Amino acid sequence: MTKAPEHLRTPHTSEAIVADLMMPHHANGLKHPSVFGGVIMSMVDRCAALSAMRHCGGQVTTLSIDRILFKEPIRVGELVEVRARVVHVGRTSIAVLADVYAEHIARAVRRHTNECWLTFVHLGDDGKPAPVPRLHLETDEDRLRNAVAVRRREQALAERQ
Ligand SMILES: CC(C)(COP(=O)(O)OP(=O)(O)OC[C@H]1O[C@@H](n2cnc3c(N)ncnc32)[C@H](O)[C@@H]1OP(=O)(O)O)[C@@H](O)C(=O)NCCC(=O)NCCS
Repeated sequence: MTKAPEHLRTPHTSEAIVADLMMPHHANGLKHPSVFGGVIMSMVDRCAALSAMRHCGGQVTTLSIDRILFKEPIRVGELVEVRARVVHVGRTSIAVLADVYAEHIARAVRRHTNECWLTFVHLGDDGKPAPVPRLHLETDEDRLRNAVAVRRREQALAERQ
């Protein structure tokens, strides 16, 4: 793999990480409590926004958060880590893929619990959508995710009202 020159923005250079230890105040009200889904959604939105901001070097607003599938519960006492990177850019929009991992530190067990696709719009100083730098794809994985993002965007635009 040839490494991209410094000035090129790649999925790798946009990577952002948000991590937090799940505490009792993060729990839902179930009989056997797990972490409240909204806590994870907030972490995903923040982490993905950081990634989009890193790419465009400015402010962004969340346009969409696509389906978040909660495959398995996350428990109080686990470390939650969200990793996000830019996978596609349009003229003013930035698509980000976020992965959520939960880690039981004492057992040294880490699992992938969620995946989420988000779209942000870069806003200029006037608060209006502004152009974003192009995204340089480095790896086959970058290209694969980019192709998926293109399909998702086409579908979203077709459904736009
Ligand atoms: C995000 C927002 C500024 C976009 O405004 P807009 O009038 O749709 O702007 P535009 O038509 O110029 O579209 C901006 C980009 O969003 C994309 N877009 C807009 N609606 C879309 C939709 N339904 N699906 C997919 N993409 C969409 C456009 O294609 C464009 O991307 P591109 O330049 O890469 O092609 C506006 O919808 C907004 O302010 N929403 C509220 C955001 C918010 O409050 N978020 C939560 C707090 S952060």
